[in-house]
Amino acid sequence: MEIEHKTRVVNSFAALEKLLAQIESGRKEKPDWIRLQSNARLDVLEIDAREKVLKRLHACVLRGFKANNVEFEKKKHRLEYWQSVARSGFHDFSELGWMKSYDSPFVENYDYIEAFKDNGLDGLDPYAVYSSVLGTFDFSVEDFIATELCQNVRTIVEPMSGTAEFCYQGHFRFPDFRYAMIDLDEQAQQRVLAQRWLPETEKQYLVADVLNEEVWSNIKAFSSGESLSYIGKQSHHLFDAKQLFRLMDVATRNVDYFMLETPQLAMVTDMGGTDDMTRPEMKAAGFEAELVEDHDGEPNPFTNLMHFHLTASTKKKERQLFGYRDWTVWSQPILVTMANLLDLNAFYFHSELHEFVSVEEETEDCDVEDNVTFMLFTRREVDSVL
Ligand SMILES: C[S@@+](CC[C@H](N)C(=O)[O-])C[C@H]1O[C@@H](n2cnc3c(N)ncnc32)[C@H](O)[C@@H]1O
Repeated sequence: MEIEHKTRVVNSFAALEKLLAQIESGRKEKPDWIRLQSNARLDVLEIDAREKVLKRLHACVLRGFKANNVEFEKKKHRLEYWQSVARSGFHDFSELGWMKSYDSPFVENYDYIEAFKDNGLDGLDPYAVYSSVLGTFDFSVEDFIATELCQNVRTIVEPMSGTAEFCYQGHFRFPDFRYAMIDLDEQAQQRVLAQRWLPETEKQYLVADVLNEEVWSNIKAFSSGESLSYIGKQSHHLFDAKQLFRLMDVATRNVDYFMLETPQLAMVTDMGGTDDMTRPEMKAAGFEAELVEDHDGEPNPFTNLMHFHLTASTKKKERQLFGYRDWTVWSQPILVTMANLLDLNAFYFHSELHEFVSVEEETEDCDVEDNVTFMLFTRREVDSVL
């Protein structure tokens, strides 16, 4: 089921002032979004005044604000605006607008550009850059919990979690769920646990190998209610066939639902080369971000194996942020074949219905080529929603 969002629209600062005062005094509920239109232009405010408004906005919305009414003559001003909003607790890494974590009381600083201004490419926080270009912010725990299949889930597991956006964002929406994250990267663990979490949420971040069966029995012991495991950013492509097969087997014995974020259906030979990921604020600050094929990384159409890396570069210098050696694109039909061999039921997230639908069902009304980017596997016998 698609989640409905409530948006309040204001056309002037007077109307915004009135709305914020009503929300602050409890006379009106926080909407999901506030849309600023017409004369309510944040770009014309001096930075201090803008940041004061943003502070109040942050406390008065569940998800964020939208403002397509800004205009800039100079790149410098656009960047200044971007940075002031980003350090006031909103990011625009999603298609939806300037976003915060759901109803979060914490003003997070999303400005990764200042570090570049201070220390160039060496100053960049690789995890922050990675998040800004590859983060999945348009879908979160609540989209999957809103499905008929996963409505009873109360434990979220994020294997290969890295910066663990799925759990972190999700816990603001469902603080009473349990969250388990697993990654080999100790630095990622420290980074995630150093973020501000709601104190009541039960969570654990294990530095461990997700191919280790004991890890999964620990997760099972930690779980309460039904459990959903989610591997984002196609991270399972770091595994070879035997490893992924083993992971699907072990994981589905210990969680109820095992979900993978998959690429759009495409030939692997279309995926090599260089992919420009540069965001406007990067360009304005003077650097670019790209996914670049390694010199020996050309995609192999028979094995789907490829090698590439994420780089940031200026005209003079280049810095590799993350490497993706031995990346095998496990396309949807291969995943379904593995699921059949393991006697798992396979589902895809239907882009129109916002429900998990069995892969055996018709694909009508679903933009299969562009939009089947979440697959789910389970040992449970479940009736399809169609
Ligand atoms: C593409 S990154 C993932 C990003 C992650 N989904 C995020 O939101 O940041 C892949 C992650 O998988 C982790 N990883 C690779 N092999 C692993 C393994 N065998 N067990 C646990 N984590 C692993 C890496 O340390 C890395 O953080």
